[in-house]
Amino acid sequence: MADEKQRALDGARVDPDGSRLITQQGVRVDHTDDSLAAGDRGPTLLEDFHFREKVTHFDHERIPERVVHARGAGAYGHFTPYDDRLARYTAAEFLTDPSVTTPVFVRFSTVAGSRGSADTVRDVRGFATKFYTRQGNYDLVGNNFPVFFIQDGIKFPDFVHAVKPEPHNEIPQAQSAHDTFWDFVALQPETLHAVMWLMSDRAIPRSYRMMQGFGVHTFRLVTADGRGTFVKFHWKPALGTHSLVWEECQRIAGYDPDFNRRDLWEAIESGAFPEWELGVQLVEETDEFAFDFDLLDPTKIIPEERVPVLPVGRLVLDRNPDNFFAETEQVAFHTANIVPGIDFTNDPLLQARNFSYLDTQLIRLGGPNFAQIPVNRPVTEVSTNQRDGYGQQRVHRGRTSYTPNTLGGGCPVVGGDFPEVFRHYQEKVDGSKIRKRSASFADHHGQAALFWNSMSEVERTHIVAAFRFELGKVETVEIRAAVVAQLGRVHADLAAAVAEGLGLPLPDLGEPASTQSSPALSQLGQPTGTI
Ligand code: HEM
Repeated sequence: MADEKQRALDGARVDPDGSRLITQQGVRVDHTDDSLAAGDRGPTLLEDFHFREKVTHFDHERIPERVVHARGAGAYGHFTPYDDRLARYTAAEFLTDPSVTTPVFVRFSTVAGSRGSADTVRDVRGFATKFYTRQGNYDLVGNNFPVFFIQDGIKFPDFVHAVKPEPHNEIPQAQSAHDTFWDFVALQPETLHAVMWLMSDRAIPRSYRMMQGFGVHTFRLVTADGRGTFVKFHWKPALGTHSLVWEECQRIAGYDPDFNRRDLWEAIESGAFPEWELGVQLVEETDEFAFDFDLLDPTKIIPEERVPVLPVGRLVLDRNPDNFFAETEQVAFHTANIVPGIDFTNDPLLQARNFSYLDTQLIRLGGPNFAQIPVNRPVTEVSTNQRDGYGQQRVHRGRTSYTPNTLGGGCPVVGGDFPEVFRHYQEKVDGSKIRKRSASFADHHGQAALFWNSMSEVERTHIVAAFRFELGKVETVEIRAAVVAQLGRVHADLAAAVAEGLGLPLPDLGEPASTQSSPALSQLGQPTGTI
């Protein structure tokens, strides 16, 4: 089973033997160094089909990079559950049958920078896994932070416009050190919890192999008889979670901008296969309202003291792609790619993602047939009445491509029971149509404070230094002050230390979310870093 995807890919693999050049039309040519010209020094002739094919194809080699997460590195591997302990909660075979090993493709990424940006920047890292299961493709499209910056996907274009390089000069390429980002943070305090993670050492991982991953949203596991359980997914690296320090990041970005990508590639080539343990936090449907935050709010974690992480399986990456473009660039992850036994919740960020990924891939990958690209194909059978479109690779035969029909052929719907066929979880919904954030999403500072309070002294020192460095690059003094005022609502010590480093007066602290005292931050000097 683990090799099933590799066997399927064999049909698409090409190994030029270096012996001859044959055009796309199958014609052998023996000269590719000079164009066909009229005379010794004359103009190139339009009839030079070999020149035209060669240059035209080259002219069209580039596709749009991902609108976010443009820079990434990927690898194949496999996932095996430890045992059947999740069988009580889900009908998803790949999570419950220890005799089944499921092939996967994983892509790690930075978020803000473009395809050619450096690896070791302060940023979130993507951790996206495509499981080629026997019930279809399941994509767990996560990050290395357990929380996100916004609560509702309708804010995603605003957020990304603020995060990306400023539009007039495209500076800075891949950092959060600029006015637009911090302006957004100050005005949208829902960002604060994720911003605390961003200013922490978690945002500068030493290696993709030493990074945690999180599904972020609360999802749902569903049993064969339709019972739901809330779930949060966690990836834990076997090598432990390790970070660089900021000064290392800056040096490495200069010496080796491919640092994380190279590390992943070389580890796999040398047989040091990276591993992660999949863990789940499970919450019964009856406990939906047992917390002082909303389970549907993606800016919140479920504290592990309240709900421990249950280890359920092992992921190993053991094969590098053969071709970066064909596989790592063309892979298409989508939160809506789910299989029987897993379902969504009403998290408004997740709901937006379920629209956005397919939509963006339609343009990024050139039309509606990108699921036929080898890396995206499921290992299961595909049988639809969809036809035609750019890049169609299949030759569908017969007269019918619709249902119902009396003529035979096509792909009729055949009955079956869940979980043999996918059925949506029958969640009851009721309410008026309103455009308003739920009051249960209102606390933006409590878990940011929890994060600060859980840090060691060294980690706090790093967080303050990061705020000082990044805010030190912000030109608009009012924006710096507005962020510091928000930090005052997280913790007085944090706000004071950042304000001092920026030469700002102490903010009027109002009601901080936390007053628990922090270890001394006195060893901090002026903003560190040399950029
Ligand atoms: C890409 C994670 C929120 C839109 C990605 C990727 C990851 C990711 C890991 C890269 C996938 C790859 O390697 O190809 C997350 C997480 C989120 C989040 C964990 C919050 C919990 C959102 C939201 C939207 C969005 C709210 C839009 C409403 C996109 C788009 C791409 C992307 C358009 C590019 C996809 C492509 O071109 O294939 N995201 N994302 N994301 N994300 Fe998100």
